[in-house]
Amino acid sequence: MSNKNMNILVTGSAGFIGFHTSLFLLNKNMKVCGIDNLNNYYDTQLKKDRLDILKKFENFSFVKCDLTDMDTIDILMKENHITHIINLAAQAGVRYSLENPHAYVNSNLAGFVNILELARKYKVKKLVYASSSSVYGDNTASPSCENHVTDSQISLYGATKKSNELMAYSYFKLFKLESIGLRFFSVYGPWGRPDMALFLFTDAILKNKKIDVFNFGKMQRDFTYIDDIVSGIYHSLSLEKEIDIYNLGNNKTVELMYLIETIEKNIGKKAEINFLPMQKGDIQKSCADIEKAKSDLLYSPSTSIEDGVENFINWYKQYYRIKI
Ligand SMILES: NC(=O)c1ccc[n+]([C@@H]2O[C@H](COP(=O)([O-])OP(=O)(O)OC[C@H]3O[C@@H](n4cnc5c(N)ncnc54)[C@H](O)[C@@H]3O)[C@@H](O)[C@H]2O)c1
Repeated sequence: MSNKNMNILVTGSAGFIGFHTSLFLLNKNMKVCGIDNLNNYYDTQLKKDRLDILKKFENFSFVKCDLTDMDTIDILMKENHITHIINLAAQAGVRYSLENPHAYVNSNLAGFVNILELARKYKVKKLVYASSSSVYGDNTASPSCENHVTDSQISLYGATKKSNELMAYSYFKLFKLESIGLRFFSVYGPWGRPDMALFLFTDAILKNKKIDVFNFGKMQRDFTYIDDIVSGIYHSLSLEKEIDIYNLGNNKTVELMYLIETIEKNIGKKAEINFLPMQKGDIQKSCADIEKAKSDLLYSPSTSIEDGVENFINWYKQYYRIKI
C-alpha cells in the first residue's frame, strides 16, 4: 500500500511521541487523524502547543476524545476511512502507577480493548502500538532481547503494557488483526515529557532547585532519541509481518551520572543532588538488544547522547525563553 492511500489514526497525538510521529507522517504528505484526551498528567499547555504545530497541516485533523469513548472513535474511523492505527495514547510513567492505578487500567487496558475492537471492525491493515522496556520487569538478563521471558512485572505500568502484547496476540489468533508492538526504551528529545529525567533535571538545575537521584546515582538507561523511535514506528506501518514485537532502544547504556554531567556542561551550571535509595517499581539498568529491529525495520539509531541532550536543551531554552 502506498503512503498516499494510508489514512492513519494516531492516538495520543498531543503527547511527546504522538506529536513527533504525526509531524513525520504529515511531512511525508500522509493523512493523519489525531485523538488525545489532553489530560493533566503534565502541563497541558505543552500538549496544546504541540497540537498547534500539527494543526498547520491540511492533512491533519484532531478530535479531543478519550480512548474509553468508543462511540466517538468509531464515527471518526468510519468518516476518515482509517486504514492504519498507531496507538500511543496511554497513561505513561512507572512511578505514577503506584499513586493512581486506575488511570492505567482505564487508558491502557479498557482503552486498548476499544482500539482492538475498532481495528477489527474496520479491518485496519496494521495496528502499531506502544509497549515498553518495562515489560522486562525483574528479568535482569542484559541486553534485553524480545525472546526473553517477560512474566515478572514489577510495576502496574509494566503489567498493562505486557497485557497489551497478550491482547494483541489474542486478536490476531481470533480475528487475524495484524499488529506490531514496540518496546520503547527511555525516549528523549525536543518537546519531551516533563516527568522524565532529562526534563526534570534541566528544569531543576535552571531554577536552582535540587534534583532527586535515585539508587544513589547507580542507574543506567538506554536512552533513545525521538527521531530514531519515529523511524521505527514508520517502518512498522508497512512491515510485511502479521504480528511481532520489537525493541526500539539505542543499545548504548548511559550512566545516569553521565547524563547529569552532560546536562551540566550544556547549561554551564552544576546540579545540586539529593541522593536517594531505589524507588519501588523501578529498574536499575535498561539496555536493548536491537538486532531484530535492525534487520526488519531498517532501524539504525544514530543520535549520540551528547547531541541529543544538546538538542533538547536548545529546544527547552527556546520554548521557555531562557537566556543562559
Ligand atoms: N517516552 C518514553 O520513554 C516511553 C517509553 C516506553 C513506552 N512509552 C509509551 O509510548 C507511548 C507514548 O508515550 P509519550 O512519552 O509520548 O507519553 P505522553 O504522555 O507524552 O503521551 C501520551 C498522550 O496520550 C494522551 N492520553 C493518555 N490517556 C489517554 C486516553 N485515555 N485517551 C486519549 N488520550 C490519552 C495524553 O494526553 C498524552 O498526550 C505511551 O503508550 C507510553 O506508555 C513511552
